[in-house]
Amino acid sequence: MSRLMLGRTLERVCKVVLLLCLIHFLIMMILYFDVYSQRFDIFSRFNNGRGTNNSRGPHHYYYNYSSGRPNATFPSYLPAIDQLPPSARPEANRTRPTPKPVLPCPEAPPGLVGRLLIEFSSQMTMEKVQRENPSVTDGGRYTPPDCRPKQKVAIIIPFRHRDHHLKFWLHYLHPILRRQKIDYGVYIINQLGEDTFNRAKLLNVGYTEALRDTEYDCFIFSDVDLIPMDDRNLYHCYDQPRHFAIAMDKFGFRLPYAGYFGGVSGLSRKQFLKINGFPNEYWGWGGEDDDIYNRITLNGMKVSRPDVRIGRYRMIKHERDKHNEPNPQRFNKIQNTKNTMRKDGISSLTYRLVSVKKYPLYTNISVEIGKPPPRPNRG
Ligand SMILES: *[C@@H]1O[C@H](CO)[C@@H](O)[C@H](O)[C@H]1NC(C)=O
Ligand SMILES: *[C@@H]1O[C@H](CO)[C@@H](O)[C@H](O)[C@H]1NC(C)=O
Ligand SMILES: *[C@@H]1O[C@H](CO)[C@@H](O)[C@H](O)[C@H]1NC(C)=O
Ligand SMILES: *[C@@H]1O[C@H](CO)[C@@H](O)[C@H](O)[C@H]1NC(C)=O
Ligand SMILES: *[C@@H]1O[C@H](CO)[C@@H](O)[C@H](O)[C@H]1NC(C)=O
Repeated sequence: MSRLMLGRTLERVCKVVLLLCLIHFLIMMILYFDVYSQRFDIFSRFNNGRGTNNSRGPHHYYYNYSSGRPNATFPSYLPAIDQLPPSARPEANRTRPTPKPVLPCPEAPPGLVGRLLIEFSSQMTMEKVQRENPSVTDGGRYTPPDCRPKQKVAIIIPFRHRDHHLKFWLHYLHPILRRQKIDYGVYIINQLGEDTFNRAKLLNVGYTEALRDTEYDCFIFSDVDLIPMDDRNLYHCYDQPRHFAIAMDKFGFRLPYAGYFGGVSGLSRKQFLKINGFPNEYWGWGGEDDDIYNRITLNGMKVSRPDVRIGRYRMIKHERDKHNEPNPQRFNKIQNTKNTMRKDGISSLTYRLVSVKKYPLYTNISVEIGKPPPRPNRG
């Protein structure tokens, strides 16, 4: 008797599960086709290729024939363009030139995928990363071909002897930034010599040197070993200075303290100038990010942050670098931001530019930035 009941209950449960699977499958199919048609613009291309109706439907705005997406995205069942009769060729006899993309890039780019799997164990070479990113142009520049971005973003990476990390950073970040529809350039600021490392000063150099390239209006300062785990963490500037790396794996995916501003942060040109850039006098590890945080709050701004589920980061594990020992003066210095920030900053920056090299995936700016002043003798 009870066995029979059990059997029936099981049968019902099975039916419900089956039904759920079916619904799930249907929704996945609908989503799949929706994304596919958006991404590849199949239907408008189809219309246009056949030349049936040349008026520009809503799908056409994003498309630029001459900019040419990779050939592989052309669905193979369509006739190749040069097999069509001349009148149907998209570029033939256009009465007016195709306008530049007119639509601003969407606030929430449709191609984002959300949470990402990040690992550092696979074999990575610069050649492989180059093959993965043919649309990135010399010096690590990229502009979305199909929409008009609001900001030009310079990504500044302070650097010394971390070539292995750089490969992973480029491997993960270029595709993410592309999906985010960011108009960007990547600059590594390479501190030459073996004197004590100075992260904040290198960031000031990056700001200055990037602006020689083009009129950037947003600057994102990123350590080379930090990879975002979610592409919804959008790399552009916000109304307030932005802190991106709020939940790193090494801190248990939490903010280590309320005023933390380290790892990856972003300021618009205006915000950066308002705080006189970053301090130049923090030699060695630590403190400079707290000083920057103080500059922001002392100038009446506050830090904006993403949702804690989105602002997650993986850090590439490494030994502490040589010549970047913790700076023992940092605790005293951050008490004094109010007195020092007007004197010490982008307004007082000096350095010697040694070389600027444009590689396919990034610009390498090598500089000499001096060394720390001699420490007063304590006896
Ligand atoms: C082409 O499409 C537009 C709107 O989509 C319509 O107004 C127009 O009549 C169509 N022209 C032809 C020739 O079908
Ligand atoms: C299409 O894109 C190419 C390359 O990105 C660009 O040179 C060209 O000006 C664009 N054409 C139009 C009409 O926007
Ligand atoms: C696309 O194909 C054309 C010729 O069919 C070729 O010249 C061009 O280099 C190809 N572009 C890409 C990105 O493969
Ligand atoms: C446009 O069409 C005319 C004839 O209809 C032809 O003579 C001319 O070469 C075409 N122009 C282009 C750019 O294809
Ligand atoms: C950048 O350029 C410097 C100076 O030429 C060179 O020593 C260094 O290896 C380069 N670094 C990278 C990551 O390209």
